[in-house]
Amino acid sequence: MGAPLTVTVGGERPYPVVIGRDATIALSDHLAGASRAAIVHAAPLAEHARKIARYIDDEVKTTLIEVPDAEAGKGIDVAASCWDRLGREGFTRNDLVIGVGGGAVTDLAGFVAACWLRGVDVVQLPTSLLGMVDAAVGGKTGVNTASGKNLVGAFHPPRAVLCDLSTMDTLPAADRVAGLAEVIKCGYIADTGILDAINDNPDAATDPAAPLLADLVRRAVAVKAEVVAGDLRESGRRAILNYGHTFAHAIEKVENYRWRHGDAVAVGMVYAAALGRLTGRADLVDPLRATLNRVGLPVTYRGGDWGALLAAMRVDKKAVGDTIRFVLLDALARPVIVDDVTPEQMLAAYREVST
Ligand code: GLY
Repeated sequence: MGAPLTVTVGGERPYPVVIGRDATIALSDHLAGASRAAIVHAAPLAEHARKIARYIDDEVKTTLIEVPDAEAGKGIDVAASCWDRLGREGFTRNDLVIGVGGGAVTDLAGFVAACWLRGVDVVQLPTSLLGMVDAAVGGKTGVNTASGKNLVGAFHPPRAVLCDLSTMDTLPAADRVAGLAEVIKCGYIADTGILDAINDNPDAATDPAAPLLADLVRRAVAVKAEVVAGDLRESGRRAILNYGHTFAHAIEKVENYRWRHGDAVAVGMVYAAALGRLTGRADLVDPLRATLNRVGLPVTYRGGDWGALLAAMRVDKKAVGDTIRFVLLDALARPVIVDDVTPEQMLAAYREVST
């Protein structure tokens, strides 16, 4: 396998996203100034976290902090227990948090770092495809509360993101496929070459040993990097990264988060494509469905309750007052943010994804 690929995320303090099967090795390049590093990791990644600790032990004093995997770990109580550990270990402003795990763990680790002493650096080592192409890049951090997912958080860009593709070798195939939904999203909103590459070789697109996956991660990260560099705090254009997410978040909420995020995004993109056609924009429904089918992502959501889905869309973070906002595509790679979709059009699009 070739040398790691690097994408730089611009902004006030630019940082690299390193992509490759040995990307973890680059960690020693990003410890400068720290005497201590807390490795916040998901429980199933304990051995991997110990290996990382041994690798940097000569340079920094390491503390391993194990947290529950997935959304269960993204609670304010878990964050508080991490802060207790940092306090006991005497973590100062120059010290470092390292997040190791899927998107939920890197969100939590970033939030812990954002709040400790009002902000210490974090290096993110995402171990899932979703984490690599979305959650760990862009500086959104947060925890879940009784009011909902990700409603409490901070924008806290990392010092570096290291996407070690070998960590995906043991990831269940269904999780790799789900992660591809965010990659396909980047194809639709900006880099259509992503779609050609996946359509030409759908199997290699989820094979962590295939050069194609490294290149897809690089391209998806490049799309995200370009967007967040100009709008870290989502005051405008960053919202295009939420293509497919308005309906996806509603499915996740109605299904009590038992649906994988990527699966919900896949159906959410079909919903947005249907809305696009119904509102007189490009008709992208069939090619999108074909690409999603090719890689094994879902294109329908049956058995839902439209009233509950609509209510969930109204409390989406993008909603403003009573208006539901959607990201639609005027054409391929031409996203627009729209807030004049009628209730009739929303229902008609729902019929298209639910039958
Ligand atoms: N996941 C969307 C964003 O980072 O803005």
